[in-house]
Amino acid sequence: MPLPDGFLQELKLRNDITEVASSYVNLKRRGRNMVGLCPFHGEKTPSFNIYTENGSFYCFGCGVGGDVITFIMKIENLDYIDAVKFLAQRAGLNMPEDSFDDSMSALRKRIYEANREAARFFYSQLYTPKGAKGLSYFRSRALAERTIRHFGLGYADPERYSLVNHLKSLGFKNNEIVQANLAYQNKNGNISDRFYDRVMFPIIDLRGNVIAFGGRILTDAKPKYLNTSDTPVFKKSANLFSLNNAKNTGSRTLILCEGYMDVIALNQAGFQNAVATLGTALTQEQALLMKRYADEVIICYDSDEAGQKATARAIGFLRNAGLLIRVINIPEGKDPDEFLRNKGEQGYNAFKNVIESSGNDIEYRIAKIKGSYNLESAEGRVSYLNEVVKILATLDNSIEQDVYISKISKELGVSPDAIKQQLNKANRKNYRDKRRSNFRDMQSKLNGRNDKINTERYKKPRVTTAEEGVIAFMIKNPDKLSLIQNSLDEERFQTDFNKKLYSYFSERIKNGDDILSSVSGDFTPDETAKIYQIVNSDFAKMANENTLKENINVINDEYLKLKTADASSASYDDIAERLKKLRENHQ
Ligand code: GTP
Ligand code: MN
Repeated sequence: MPLPDGFLQELKLRNDITEVASSYVNLKRRGRNMVGLCPFHGEKTPSFNIYTENGSFYCFGCGVGGDVITFIMKIENLDYIDAVKFLAQRAGLNMPEDSFDDSMSALRKRIYEANREAARFFYSQLYTPKGAKGLSYFRSRALAERTIRHFGLGYADPERYSLVNHLKSLGFKNNEIVQANLAYQNKNGNISDRFYDRVMFPIIDLRGNVIAFGGRILTDAKPKYLNTSDTPVFKKSANLFSLNNAKNTGSRTLILCEGYMDVIALNQAGFQNAVATLGTALTQEQALLMKRYADEVIICYDSDEAGQKATARAIGFLRNAGLLIRVINIPEGKDPDEFLRNKGEQGYNAFKNVIESSGNDIEYRIAKIKGSYNLESAEGRVSYLNEVVKILATLDNSIEQDVYISKISKELGVSPDAIKQQLNKANRKNYRDKRRSNFRDMQSKLNGRNDKINTERYKKPRVTTAEEGVIAFMIKNPDKLSLIQNSLDEERFQTDFNKKLYSYFSERIKNGDDILSSVSGDFTPDETAKIYQIVNSDFAKMANENTLKENINVINDEYLKLKTADASSASYDDIAERLKKLRENHQ
């Protein structure tokens, strides 16, 4: 059963989209709308719009859109019901009872509980004879008791049923334990522990829920780390280890490390603002998540080749997210954990110095390539300069470019003007490339090839647009439904998606329901985005009875073309109508 309309309307009324979104996005007024940098993709100029008049949002950059519920689903990684609950709680509303399918939400709740119990269990094991091995491992890595407790670290013993038995004794069902990815299920339906003989690192989300675990083996065996796979409560590409601690430091600077141990060692040394990805490379989503809590990110990856590759990749995503970047080069040791251990008591100051002497991402990239050229030779200097110019051309701030030009000019003894000339050439090429790719984007937009939701647009562009015009009109003017129905037969809609929308909205109008209030629940997020794209298009804003008439004409015309093209299935009436149309057009 869907949620009652009245409840959804109340929910939206009490959760003003501008107010909700502004706690995640910096919004500025532009005309009647609000705009800001999109939190769902990296961009430098704002294309994220909030439409206050209908309580919706749409991003022209990435095509994400919807109502306040969709916004919360996306930004908090919740499904529909949990996003509704989130907003109900925010507004102090009670959820209506028994009127919706709550089974997924209930399962998620059980998974959170199972994870919490598992974390407790692993932690308590450290102080039993079976878990002594784990405790001594952490001690051997110089972790204090206080640190172990703060992170809730633990140990999963080598027996295969310890956690499973424990959770069962607490009343958890096999299915819940397996869905939490805490156990494997074999063919007979028996379950056994996923993590055994590993020290355990719980992963905690921003609301304090234990959502996953990383488990490290104590020997050199492989795999070194085993992580929870994605579950109904965990998406590894959208979370960061220890962000729950780091977000509270108030510094708006984060230290991005590679490993759990690095983050923990940094915390212990006094840097609470360290985070790490969860066994995968950084994603754009994680960079945007960091942007919510930081203006600057200090990349602190291993100094080995893999670490350097990961650094280059991370720089791209972080820049896209609009973050300032510094890159740390760790001397004496591979990673921050080793560095701090070597420094002992001096750790905090030593690492502070490393941070202070670190350069920004551009300096880092220039220093990297510098190493591969022989600057003693003229040839080497020219090649080096060409590479530097390529990097500078990616900056869209000319003041920033000037800073490096004067540095490099001094370093190489080349005049700044000569470097500028080279840079202008590169800038022009970039501009041409960008124009070309914009043109391609525009073309694919126009010919409808990139419409993933209405996949028939590409084949039937004219009628698709006209159908959308009719839908936009009916949403804007629900009182004019009979006007539409009198001159248009639903069967004449040619694209399935638009036909579905037309019948959905007609039905709601007939029932006297608020037209948009349950779109985000009745359609997928992508479909919802499409609907709000239609609703908020300039085209929709212009919709009036004249444009409606024109659009209906197009739909009828295309319908008759289709029918008469296939003469065998055309009725006499169809042919007569088409002939009449043709005659009218020729008058
Ligand atoms: P220590 O060796 O205990 O110091 O751990 P580390 O965190 O320094 O490990 P490393 O630098 O080798 O790896 C960095 C991060 O990559 C780890 O924290 C894990 O998240 C991830 N990782 C490392 N090895 C594996 C693996 O075998 N499987 C998976 N899935 N992730 C791994
Ligand atoms: Mn390490």
